[in-house]
Parts: sequence; structure tokens; C-alpha cells
Amino acid sequence: MKLSNIRQEYKRGKLTKSNTHTNPFQQFEQWLEEAIQEKAEEPTAMVIATVSAAGHPSTRTVLLKGVENGQFIFFSNYESRKGQQLAENPYISLSFVWHKLERQVHIEGKVEKYAEEKSNNYFASRPYKSRIGARISPQSKIITSRMQIMRAFVAESIKWTGKAIKRPDNWGGYGVTPTRFEFWQGRENRLHDRIQYTQQANGDWEKNRLAP
Ligand SMILES: Cc1cc2nc3c(=O)[nH]c(=O)nc-3n(C[C@H](O)[C@H](O)[C@H](O)COP(=O)(O)O)c2cc1C
Repeated sequence: MKLSNIRQEYKRGKLTKSNTHTNPFQQFEQWLEEAIQEKAEEPTAMVIATVSAAGHPSTRTVLLKGVENGQFIFFSNYESRKGQQLAENPYISLSFVWHKLERQVHIEGKVEKYAEEKSNNYFASRPYKSRIGARISPQSKIITSRMQIMRAFVAESIKWTGKAIKRPDNWGGYGVTPTRFEFWQGRENRLHDRIQYTQQANGDWEKNRLAP
């Protein structure tokens, strides 16, 4: 299979300055809702990019767990590779791709740690085994074998039998406050529609069309 022959025309929609909301959060919520309705796979999955103090970027996928008080919320291990990079440099970008709808959204902003109490509440809502897993996994660290993790998982499960599992200090939420949004709708002949929102000094959002 020649990769250069894989080609698809995008025809599902149109995006204009007049058919988009004034507020980018509303536009995002509408598109996420449509992705869920259309049964796009993992509609809340987003690729997040972080950058180390030395200026080296890295990316990975996480799940969006809410949009509240102007922040996009996700959960992870604070000592993971991403956690360390975010401690060095709080600037982040998020990318959602909904292939089924021929759409993507890019968001740029700054993270801060989610309130501890809110992280506790979300942690408590997770399935039992996921809570145990979060406690024992030194995310992003080198381990000797899968057996090491499985042993730790069993030992930790026994330790917490019949008790309320405590959220580990190194695991919790992040809230991203955006300063830029871009909504992308695939169009024919690669002449895609792109609408950018940038936040102004007074907090208002300026909307512009970008070249494909
Ligand atoms: C669909 C999907 C959802 C994921 N959701 C999360 C998540 O919500 N939080 C998380 O820490 N890792 C999640 N992961 C795993 C991350 O992509 C990544 O492997 C992990 O966080 C370690 O990243 P790091 O070493 O760059 O810190 C998910 C992976 C996939 C493919």
C-alpha cells in the first residue's frame, strides 16, 4: 500500500464566522455534543502537548473530564513526564480530532492544578481498580516488568480491602484556561475552513478566519 495514495475528500460541513458562536466555549460544547451524538470514537480524547524547560515538546492522549469555570479539566499523575514538564512550564495545547465529522479543535492555554477537594471527588468516582492502579503506578518511570506492577496492584488491593481508597498526592486534575481556540472543518480540495478565536486584553474573544 502506497501511503501517498491514501486520500479522502472532506465534504461534511462548513464553518463561517457567522455560523459559529461568539463565545468559543459554546462553539466547543456544540461540537463535542455533535461528536457524541454521531458516535465518534472516544469523543473526549485529546492530544495534549507540553514543553520542557529546555524547549522540547512532547505529546500524548488524555481524556477531557469536564469544562467548568472557563477551564478544560483532565486528570493524570503529577510526577509523570507530562506532570514534570507542566511543573517546569505551564503552557499547554490540546487537540481534539473527530475524524468522523471531519473536524478538529486546537486550544492553547495555561494549566493550574485542580483544587484538591475536586480531585478527591473525581478520584472517589473512579472504578475501584482504577483507583488502585493510580496509587501504584509510577507513571512514565522505567519498570523492570509487568509483573512488578501486577504484584504492587495485588498488594495495594489487599491493603485497601473494605476501606475508602485515598487519592495519592501525586495524582489529580489539571485545569487549562484557554487563550486561543481554533475550529477546523475539512472541505473539498483541501480548502478547509478554519475559525480562530483569540482572547483580547479585556477578556473578549476576537474571531478570524485563517487560510487553510
Ligand atoms: C484514549 C486514551 C486516553 C487516555 N487517557 C489518559 C488520561 O486521562 N490520563 C492519563 O494520565 N493518561 C491517559 N492516557 C495515557 C497517556 O496517553 C500517556 O500514555 C500517559 O499519561 C503517560 O504520558 P507521559 O509519560 O507523557 O506523562 C490515555 C491514553 C489514551 C490512548
